[in-house]
Amino acid sequence: MTQSGFFRHEFPTLSNMTFLNTAFCSPVATSVYEASQSFLDERMASPDGMRSWDETAEETRALVAHLLGADPGEIAFATSAAMGTNIVAEGLGLTSGDNVVLDNLAYPTDTILWQRKAEELGFEIRRIANVDGAIPYELVENAVDDRTKLITVSEVSYINGFRYDLAQLADLAHAHGAFLLSDSTQSIGALRLDVRDADADFVACGAYKWLLGPIGMAFFYIKRELQDRFAPLGYGWKQISKYVYTDDRTKAPDVKRCSFFDDARRYEFASINLQGVYGLRAAVQLLEEIGLEWIEQRTLDLNRNLRAQLSEHGFELFTPSDTESGITTFFVEEETSLFRYLKDRNVAVTARIGCEQVRVSPHFYNTRDEIDLFIRHLVDWKRSRGSSGA
Ligand SMILES: Cc1ncc(COP(=O)(O)O)c(C=O)c1O
Repeated sequence: MTQSGFFRHEFPTLSNMTFLNTAFCSPVATSVYEASQSFLDERMASPDGMRSWDETAEETRALVAHLLGADPGEIAFATSAAMGTNIVAEGLGLTSGDNVVLDNLAYPTDTILWQRKAEELGFEIRRIANVDGAIPYELVENAVDDRTKLITVSEVSYINGFRYDLAQLADLAHAHGAFLLSDSTQSIGALRLDVRDADADFVACGAYKWLLGPIGMAFFYIKRELQDRFAPLGYGWKQISKYVYTDDRTKAPDVKRCSFFDDARRYEFASINLQGVYGLRAAVQLLEEIGLEWIEQRTLDLNRNLRAQLSEHGFELFTPSDTESGITTFFVEEETSLFRYLKDRNVAVTARIGCEQVRVSPHFYNTRDEIDLFIRHLVDWKRSRGSSGA
């Protein structure tokens, strides 16, 4: 049995449908399901298991840190990637005359967040328009100057899978005294990232796509040396590493004498999503067990094959030919009709309604046969419409 065949049974969804939509949300692996459930079991047996829950959280933090080549003290759990992005936006101290560089392949959170902050603080947004689905490095270079405080990108775009070279952007940002923030939600879990090599200052990542984790679970990487400068989004009981109490009958924390976490745990100021932590631990363990290098090669290979077949059948790609990622997007007239046609045949992809685009995102658990089947459906649909379709 091939390695993917061996692991397919971990995902019951895959025997019910042709699932090619990980960029939207991954199917649930049995081990992730059971791990999330085990938290509820533990809680049902003993609702005061805080110590063992904390231990699991720290073990999970270490696993995530290992995945990125980071220190555990540089990883904060969050409920969304957006929480990380917002920490950066709050801490930059942006004022009129400053600028932030982003592009039009970014996730809507970025567009909304930076627009709102710019209205509030008066800095400039330099929004680079893609050229045939790519953001050429020269355009970023031209947009950056010494008043740039941040380059913020999706490492892999949710729109078309365009992938940045983070190390190149980090060099550019740092040469101008700016920071680099990467939203790596559409890459980590499929594509390897070493934060030391990439030298990104911040990485935000939601867990429920390529990482196979739970919804409402995410993490935020922030370099150790930046943590004093970038404050948490709030304050609360969980930031204290050692409590000292007042000696009155309230036993309230004597805040001035308490010790506070001096690492990324400071960003988790109150209860975290523990069920999510349990699920994430199982997800990262599964990915490690399968092998991250193999996963990356497999994901890229499936996408290469898909792109080649789409081109062969005359479909125009919105994914640039020289980019490699888990996402392949192509243009099609009447994307809604194609989406329904595929749905009727139990094939899951994303139709980008109003953009005449279809996004296909196979992960390591998909097979060449599924790609072939998808292409056959596509060709049949095109034929059934008696027009080019593409
Ligand atoms: C690049 C990217 N970032 C972030 C998100 C959403 O993540 P969250 O809700 O955890 O912020 C998505 C979801 O599609 C995404 O594609």
